[in-house]
Amino acid sequence: MGKTIHHFQTIDSTNSKAYQLALDGAEEGEAVVAESQEKGRGRLGRPWYSPPSLNLYLSVILRPRIPPREASLLTLMAAVATAEAVEEVSGLVPLIKWPNDILLGGRKVAGLLNEIHSGTDRIHFVILGIGVNLNMDGKLFSREIRNVATSLRKEMGRAVSRKVFLQTLLQKLEAWYEIFLKEGAPPVLKAWRDRAQIKGRPLRVTSSGETLTGIAVDIDSNGNLMIMTEDGRQKRILAGDVEYDPK
Ligand code: BTN
Repeated sequence: MGKTIHHFQTIDSTNSKAYQLALDGAEEGEAVVAESQEKGRGRLGRPWYSPPSLNLYLSVILRPRIPPREASLLTLMAAVATAEAVEEVSGLVPLIKWPNDILLGGRKVAGLLNEIHSGTDRIHFVILGIGVNLNMDGKLFSREIRNVATSLRKEMGRAVSRKVFLQTLLQKLEAWYEIFLKEGAPPVLKAWRDRAQIKGRPLRVTSSGETLTGIAVDIDSNGNLMIMTEDGRQKRILAGDVEYDPK
């Protein structure tokens, strides 16, 4: 992965660029990296703050020969690879928070936005979009996210090399992608569960405008969150936001 890197000083979104390159025939493993994004995209239609030359904004093109229903495993796999890269570079142990946020000290240091282009029975390509706050100063975060976001530099007390981080992340992604293609879901699910420690956590979930409070049971093999609500109902959550230990 990353044998070909398309590098931009600034771009609307590395995911949009990678999507276009993939439509135009770019090969598996080609990556897009930008110094800044003008329309960096986060989950659930949110913006992803992308100031220049401090962080990592990466999108990688994959062309896996798997059915579309298995695509969510690639998101879990990419979250595990990102957590491993954060750990290797910082020496700190991150937590994966459902669905795929990477936390250090309870604050978000990286997020993933994966996009799929598929037919009924075949994936044409998947874009793994990964944003990692590397050298961002805490003061640069907007007031709304200052208490919930962090950067490697903030947690480590020193700057990190963006090149070294990118190399480490691409290596981890490649290693995990090979494991997934050879062995399927089990090792990916195990590594995700080990790093997420989700079972039994009290949480509040906001999904499609509905808020539920309960206990996390597990994730299913598609990465959906299963919870037991306060009134004893089992619920499966496909997309949403989670708050741990709500008051
Ligand atoms: C999230 O909301 O947690 C997901 C954030 C994903 C941000 C990355 S930065 C690189 C890639 N390009 C984008 O526009 N978004 C993703």
